[in-house]
Amino acid sequence: MIDPQSPIGREILRRRTFAIISHPDAGKTTLTEKLLYNGGVIHEAGEVKGKAGTKAATSDWMALEQQRGISITSSVMQFDYKNLRVNLLDTPGHKDFGEDTYRTLVAADSACMLIDVAKGVEDRTKKLYEVCRLRNIPIFTFINKCDREGKVPLELIDEIESTLKMNCWPVTWPVGLGGLFFGLYHRTRKMVYPYAGPHDDQDTTPISVAEVKNPADHPELQKRLRPEVLDMLREEIELVDGTLGEFDHQAFLDGRLSPATFGSAKNDFGVDLFLDLFTEWAPPPAPRKTRSGDLGEVPPLHDDFTGFVFKMQANMDRKHRDRVAFVRICSGKFERGMKVHHMRLDREIRLAFSNQFVAQERETVDDAYAGDILGLNDTGNFQIGDCITSGKKVLFEDIPKFSPELFARLAVSDAMKRQKLQKGLKQLSEEGAIQLFIEPAIGHQDPIVGVVGELQFEVLIYRLQDEYNLDARLVRLPYRVARWPKKDGVPIDQLNGGLSIYRDLNENPVVLLEQEWDLNWAKKENPDIEFATSIASQR
Ligand code: G4P
Repeated sequence: MIDPQSPIGREILRRRTFAIISHPDAGKTTLTEKLLYNGGVIHEAGEVKGKAGTKAATSDWMALEQQRGISITSSVMQFDYKNLRVNLLDTPGHKDFGEDTYRTLVAADSACMLIDVAKGVEDRTKKLYEVCRLRNIPIFTFINKCDREGKVPLELIDEIESTLKMNCWPVTWPVGLGGLFFGLYHRTRKMVYPYAGPHDDQDTTPISVAEVKNPADHPELQKRLRPEVLDMLREEIELVDGTLGEFDHQAFLDGRLSPATFGSAKNDFGVDLFLDLFTEWAPPPAPRKTRSGDLGEVPPLHDDFTGFVFKMQANMDRKHRDRVAFVRICSGKFERGMKVHHMRLDREIRLAFSNQFVAQERETVDDAYAGDILGLNDTGNFQIGDCITSGKKVLFEDIPKFSPELFARLAVSDAMKRQKLQKGLKQLSEEGAIQLFIEPAIGHQDPIVGVVGELQFEVLIYRLQDEYNLDARLVRLPYRVARWPKKDGVPIDQLNGGLSIYRDLNENPVVLLEQEWDLNWAKKENPDIEFATSIASQR
């Protein structure tokens, strides 16, 4: 075991690897930018977005990406804050939302759930939250856009708790809302941080309110706040302080309790308070569970370098037609040029080319530590879920497959090319770009393709054309969900109610359904069956 006090041990223990989960437009790009700004990586606004061709839009992968002006890559941003090395994994949102978004969360040790104060818990946040729940990773909550009119904070907290079945523990609390937003009360520091809006000349010197039980009783606030704002603050804090006890750190680490902070990413207000909290409470790299039972969990301070591939990125550099395998380092230290054992291929490989990502620039990296993400240039050795180790053989837990939301068959005009299409689809599904479902009666000739996000379909058509010279057309199917039926945890292929059973690429039985109503009906017909939303992808 690596000594925690040794230089390598200290490097590992200062890693904090997390991702932001949110619904489109909640402000993820804005918050990311402000986090990088506070972390000293970027120095001007607009560097992250890249949408308007700004500095960070350096990813040179597909022409499609340029045409669409979006970033398909889910990259990793690294910055130092208060002696910690923070890895922020970018979870693609908007149209580039796809399975990669889910898989990225498998590589994170904690998450920040970003919520729009006016919109509350939205659909996609809920889905991403459920993925975090699979591993019970700790979740921070950042309630954004407090400079705008929004929901009443108490109702919002209640909504988060009841929708997600997770408790919240507000660390900061907004003083006034929308037009009357005065700033944030920090409950543990007993400080009030006044906010100066973009066109406001309010004195922003922090106010210590330690001498009063309720900040609303502080003379400075009584001088500066309207009576109705004071009354509301008094009532809310009485209730929050009265009902919530001490912060239960273990419950947070178990994913049962989320520390919540408020702020306005756009105005860089509350972001530093969040970062302070994050750096104080976010856990270092967690031990990783293995499939090969006897090994149990691999702790980050294990002597061997170990890691697994959670994402493949094809064609990042068209000149070389290369692929990048994104590896989450689970334990030990990586050194460029080192030899590792590739578990699936059961042979030694040398890790000669590796990149790390600072903001969205690729940089060659010579060493990296547990918690970091490596981008390995790949010439066909890697697949999602592959494990590598410098020592003892190890297989980490499978990366689950998640239910697609869009389904189609593919048609090629030239019947002679059907075989080529099958081959292309199989390869792309092995890479994790799509999922295939086989109808037992038809077999592999004409599989159903499932994806999580619309853009995955566009990328599929583009890549079939670009890499396989195939002109394929999508024939949409009305399915909306895939569920893997299980009884007592075991996959099952006998169901009541005349439901057709398909197979995924790993031969797991799966049902495809058109709407929520069908699912409820299937559950009613098969009361002792679990209809799982994800499944470990056995290879
Ligand atoms: P996303 O990545 O989650 O999709 O969201 P993004 O950061 O692009 O933000 C979505 C919109 O919300 C942007 O407005 C952004 O400026 C705004 N926004 C983000 N944080 C805050 C905040 O704290 N307060 C307020 N009032 N707005 C916020 P936009 O009109 O789409 O773009 P822009 O012209 O403002 O850049």
